[in-house]
Amino acid sequence: MTLADQFGRVGTDLRVSLTDRCNLRCTYCMPEEGLNWLPRSEHLTDDELVRVVGLFVAEGVTSVRLTGGEPLLRRGLPGVVRRLAGLAPRPELSLTTNGIGLDRLAEPLAEAGLNRVNVSLDAVDPQIYARLTRRDRFHDVERGLKAAADADLLPVKVNAVATRDGEDPVRLLSWCVDRGYNLRFIEQMPLDAGHTWDRATMLTRDELLATLGKTFGLTPVQERGSAPAERFTVDGGPATVGIIASVTAPFCGSCDRVRLTADGQVRNCLFAQDEGNLRDPLRAGASDEELVAIIRATMWRKARGHGIGRPDFVQPERPMSSIGG
Ligand code: GTP
Ligand code: 5AD
Ligand code: SF4
Repeated sequence: MTLADQFGRVGTDLRVSLTDRCNLRCTYCMPEEGLNWLPRSEHLTDDELVRVVGLFVAEGVTSVRLTGGEPLLRRGLPGVVRRLAGLAPRPELSLTTNGIGLDRLAEPLAEAGLNRVNVSLDAVDPQIYARLTRRDRFHDVERGLKAAADADLLPVKVNAVATRDGEDPVRLLSWCVDRGYNLRFIEQMPLDAGHTWDRATMLTRDELLATLGKTFGLTPVQERGSAPAERFTVDGGPATVGIIASVTAPFCGSCDRVRLTADGQVRNCLFAQDEGNLRDPLRAGASDEELVAIIRATMWRKARGHGIGRPDFVQPERPMSSIGG
């Protein structure tokens, strides 16, 4: 079976949030004091999580990405990965992390069956990093990236949310190219806990390309498919840089994503206004068929696009750290 919606899209890429907690406080994401974290009792247990992901896989999901908050904070993560790698048919398994703790976990995660990692890194100047994340952890991330490459979690991708008061994009790209990491710049979306996002102040794809184009020769790479990033080779390759222009050039029309939050809610979009509650029926003894019916119905309701910029756009209640990146 497949997870189809009314607009002909099919969900094959499941993004699973393992926790809403984080050990950084990126200024565009959450306040210094953190958020009202979900109580532990509301998190799906490992058994519940593996069962639910198994239902998605039976419905045609071929790729599972573990996200947060910060997914490396989930206790026993290699064990969860090992169990997900045991599902049939085995999904591709990847992780989106801020990289703190990856120096120790890259090898055990790879050994457990993880295929790839994407690491969030908005600055390579330690002082700018500390200002943006409110934590002095740049060198931890640097070590984490190296450990990921050493553990063959390839290609190692770096995600950078582009902001006007952040790192020089040219410096960030040179740093990544020198180390063989595939950098992708991300347009900031209205998903912050403080609801302070403003289209007028975000850095756009066009601005980024203009800045990078002054220093690097950028050639578009064809064959994008459903990938969120538009990619370019840098100075003839093999290095590439990507831009995820979620706001100014959304990829909603070819979106193949579906999400599971740490508290067991299915979301058909980052910007969805409603969720399909799996956790409560799961804990009340629902059958696989009943849970699958909730997943399918939620996917069918998926909106055509996110509508950022439209007068009737409403930012979702949950911030990105709780939905999953
Ligand atoms: P791969 O291309 O498979 O490596 O992964 P990915 O780019 O899908 O995953 P990643 O978690 O690294 O996501 C990168 C960024 O894409 C996120 O930080 C978001 O900003 C953006 N993104 C992820 N999912 C969505 C989505 O459903 N909609 C939109 N508009 N943006 C998304
Ligand atoms: N817009 C775009 N990307 C965001 N991220 C966090 N908040 C936002 C936002 N408002 C990024 C993180 C990380 C990924 C999971 O999502 O920096 O790379
Ligand atoms: Fe943590 Fe990611 Fe939010 Fe930064 S953007 S505070 S790394 S959840």
